[in-house]
Amino acid sequence: MIAIFDSGLGGLSVLARVREALPLQDVVYLADQARVPYGDRGLEEIHAYAVENFAFLERMGGDLIVVGCNTSCAAAQLYGWPTGLPLLDLFDAAGEAVAAAGVGEAVVLATAATVRSGGYARSITRNAPQVRVREVAAPELVPLVEAGESGSPRAFAAVSRIVRPLGGVESIVYGCTHYPFLERHLRTLLPATRFIDPAEQQARNAAQAVRGLGLRDEAGEVRLYTTGDPEAFRRGVEALVGPIGAVARAPLAGV
Ligand code: DGL
Repeated sequence: MIAIFDSGLGGLSVLARVREALPLQDVVYLADQARVPYGDRGLEEIHAYAVENFAFLERMGGDLIVVGCNTSCAAAQLYGWPTGLPLLDLFDAAGEAVAAAGVGEAVVLATAATVRSGGYARSITRNAPQVRVREVAAPELVPLVEAGESGSPRAFAAVSRIVRPLGGVESIVYGCTHYPFLERHLRTLLPATRFIDPAEQQARNAAQAVRGLGLRDEAGEVRLYTTGDPEAFRRGVEALVGPIGAVARAPLAGV
C-alpha cells in the first residue's frame, strides 16, 4: 500500500499521478488540514507534524511513503524523515523533472518555508547544474485552494500578483503541490511558459519503487483521511479530483 500525505488538498495532485501510474496499488492519503498551511510555519514545527503523520501512515499499513508535501521536504532537509519506511522525497523528483525538461531557466513557485530552505535550488543544481534557478514564495495561494476557490476571480488575482512581476519566464516549477490546481490561471497569464509538475516524476519514481520493493498488485482502493472536517474534505476532494475513495477523520494525537 502506498501512503501519501500533505498538509491538505495539494497532495491530491500527486495522488492523481500515482493512480495513473499504479492503478492496482491501494493508497492511503492523509491531509493534515487541522494545521494547514504549513508554509508559513517554522521547520521545527513542521517536522513535529511529520512525526505524527508518519506514525499514522505506518499504523495504516503503508509500505512506501510518496511525499505529497514540499514544505515537509524542506523540514526534512534539516531534521531528516521520521520513518524507517522507504520514502520518495519531492525535492529529488523536482530536480530530476527539471533536468529532463531541458530548460535553461526555472522559476520555482513554492511556500515561504520551502523557499527559505533553498532545497529546490540545491536539488535542481545537483541534477542540472546549467539551469538558472529563481525561487519565489507564493503564500497567498494555498488558502485559496483549501477554501475551494481555485477557479475564482480572487484566485486569478492572487496568481496574477505573483507572476506579473516575474516578466517573461521560460519555465515554472510547481514547488508546492497545491499550485497545479491553479494551472488555468497560470496558463492564461503566462501563455508562452512551460509548466513543470514534479508530481509526474514522483509518480514515475513511485512505479519504479513499487517494482523494486516487489509490492504485489492490490484492489486499487483509495482511503482518504483528514485531521480537519471530513465533510468539507470530501467536498474538496470531489471538486479537485472527483469521488476517488472513502473519506474519514484521522485520529492523530496532536490535533
Ligand atoms: N502542499 C504543500 C507543499 O507542497 C504544503 C502547502 C502548505 O501547507 O503551505 O508545500
